[in-house]
Amino acid sequence: MPPKGVNSLTLFPFLPYHPPMSQSPIITSTINSMADVWEAYRDELEGMERQARTNLDSSVALVNTVAAHILNSGGKRIRPFFLVLSARLCGYAGRDHHQLASLVEFIHTASLLHDDVVDEADIRRGRPTARKVWGNQISILVGDYLYSKAFCQIVDFRNHGINDVLGEACKKMAEGEVLQLYYNGNPSMSEAEYLKIVEYKTAGLIAAACRMGAMLADASEPQQEALFRFGRHLGIAFQVADDTLDYTANGEHLGKSLGQDLRQGKATLPLLHLLHHCSEQDRQMIIDRMETRTMTEEDLGRFIRLMEEFGSITYAMDCARSYIAMAQQDLNQFEDSTAKRALSVAADYMVTRDR
Ligand code: IPE
Ligand code: IPE
Ligand code: MG
Ligand code: MG
Repeated sequence: MPPKGVNSLTLFPFLPYHPPMSQSPIITSTINSMADVWEAYRDELEGMERQARTNLDSSVALVNTVAAHILNSGGKRIRPFFLVLSARLCGYAGRDHHQLASLVEFIHTASLLHDDVVDEADIRRGRPTARKVWGNQISILVGDYLYSKAFCQIVDFRNHGINDVLGEACKKMAEGEVLQLYYNGNPSMSEAEYLKIVEYKTAGLIAAACRMGAMLADASEPQQEALFRFGRHLGIAFQVADDTLDYTANGEHLGKSLGQDLRQGKATLPLLHLLHHCSEQDRQMIIDRMETRTMTEEDLGRFIRLMEEFGSITYAMDCARSYIAMAQQDLNQFEDSTAKRALSVAADYMVTRDR
């Protein structure tokens, strides 16, 4: 049974809760959906979750309260998940991956605390953001705490390679967020510049998670590189899909406000495509709403209809799917296993998810 307070709802709140299956071994061919992946790796993710709770031990109670507010609000845990699966794919048989995975989730959580300040976001995972409840200063400082805590604990692995990979990913994340701010309100940003932002701010940490799983397993350099590329490609697809969901999702289900990117002056792939294909009049209207940050619900509905008319949503999702196809190729060099099948199904889920 899951320990008290830990169940699939806190780990994967988007999946229905299933009681634990019998102890019979999982057969690779039975993993066909994300729900199957979850069933197969339930224990691993619960181990990671327990570790994350243990790590949250500040002597300043407010730090724990704010961190728990976001950590326990139902994140998808995709970064820890890819780390654990990558480690298993490379034959890792130990238990340290739960700790490493929980530290990656701490870093992701810290980046969200900071990002919600930068983006002036009021809702995340269907709940008021930490900055909405406690203010921007607390949100930034608890983010700093989580980054610091992760790096304090990462040194216990005494693995310079792992330190380097994680440090590089964090540096890239900050650069990506700054680059995005630099292009804010600029409708002439190229697709290449957009993809660089996406790679830096999102794909870098996912790629690092995959590589660190392989490093923990002492995998060969080519295998580490293959998993890094796998994570990088699926991370790009993940963010492109996320940017498309900002226009197409059910807001309540997504747990974030829709149209938030355009409201914040952020041009993402579906919008860049639309700006290149719509009439000059519509283009000027979109640019005006970006610059003045005055988009109404009616405007948003109109822009979404235009995106559908000009194929902008399909274009963005085709782009995301092409990155998933590249990611899948990097799994080819690994022997068939349950972990390989799970990684492949989870990669596809990046572009079929609706939250
Ligand atoms: C949110 O990441 C930030 C992006 C990179 C789009 P996730 O969608 O993984 O967030 P949670 O942790 O599941 O809420
Ligand atoms: C998330 O980026 C933050 C990082 C990847 C560091 P976004 O601003 O695009 O994602 P959401 O919409 O807030 O989750
Ligand atoms: Mg944001
Ligand atoms: Mg942002």
